[in-house]
Amino acid sequence: MNEKLQKIKEEAIMKIQEADTLEKLNEIRVAVLGKKGELTEVLKGMKDVAAEDRPKVGQLVNDTRTAIEEKLEEVKTMLSTKEREAKLKAEVIDVTLPAKKSIVGHKHPNTVALEELERIFIGMGYEVVEGPEVEYDYYNFEALNIPANHPAKDEQDTFYINDKIVLRTQTSSVQVHEMEKGKLPIRMIAPGRVFRADEVDATHSPSFHQVEGLVIDKNVTFADLKGTLAQFAKELFGEDTKVKFRPHHFPFTEPSAEMDVTCFKCNGKGCRMCKGEGWIEILGCGMVHPHVLEMSNIDPNEYQGFAFGIGLERIALLKYEIDDMRLLYENDIRFLKQF
Ligand code: DAH
Repeated sequence: MNEKLQKIKEEAIMKIQEADTLEKLNEIRVAVLGKKGELTEVLKGMKDVAAEDRPKVGQLVNDTRTAIEEKLEEVKTMLSTKEREAKLKAEVIDVTLPAKKSIVGHKHPNTVALEELERIFIGMGYEVVEGPEVEYDYYNFEALNIPANHPAKDEQDTFYINDKIVLRTQTSSVQVHEMEKGKLPIRMIAPGRVFRADEVDATHSPSFHQVEGLVIDKNVTFADLKGTLAQFAKELFGEDTKVKFRPHHFPFTEPSAEMDVTCFKCNGKGCRMCKGEGWIEILGCGMVHPHVLEMSNIDPNEYQGFAFGIGLERIALLKYEIDDMRLLYENDIRFLKQF
């Protein structure tokens, strides 16, 4: 018995010393001390040992076990340290390497221009509101004095969802939503996306943005329209900017006009920017048509108003001197981050 134990111990210790991973070490522990391990088998044989020898043999088995366990523990500590060190070495961080740059996005020129417009109008007491892009024909046309078969509808007769629903062709539809709310006075701008069946070129896109403006109050005259838009033009293009109104036709305003500003590049002398004109057209405007007010339950004898519509891309292109609208939609960060 003594010899057998001695042999188990020596062999176990030798194997333990040779183990080079924690896994192998565990395998040895199971093979020797586990339920079916060599030493456990010896213990099971104790019943055959004479009663008077049992304490002695028991002591021997325990000593063997302790010796093996101690060795196991010793090698385990050593291997753990080794594995830890190897892991640390593999994961070493070179703090002198250049950092990974996180790429920060950039505001789109449209957004920069819109924020500028909003800042100006909020400063004049306007509220910024929004309306739906998918719109009833009624709001986009009918309630704006553009009945079915009206020739003005022709150039905007575009993306229909069904007979009654259309992708809005102008933000003027938001005027109607605001008037219908019945809360007067109104002083709002409504920025948003509009859709038309236009071919893509340097100045056209089937989807672009407008900023609508509407003021409804008592005693509003064309002088208010002019003063407001002249002040807007000065804030946007510079203190020296002058404005000029050319008669025009929009079904929902009467009278209607297009507003030009003096070219901010040449101050009106004529240059490439303004195509030699000295003036640049920037918006459509007019006094809200009495019939439009009536359709939205506003009494034109008590209330008047003015409205305007600005092409957002047009402002962005002008302000940042971009000569092709398509550049705004390509989302090339190298282009966008210049503005
Ligand atoms: N909705 C017009 C368009 O898309 C622009 C416009 C003109 C809006 C005159 C207005 C306005 O509010 O008064 O061509």
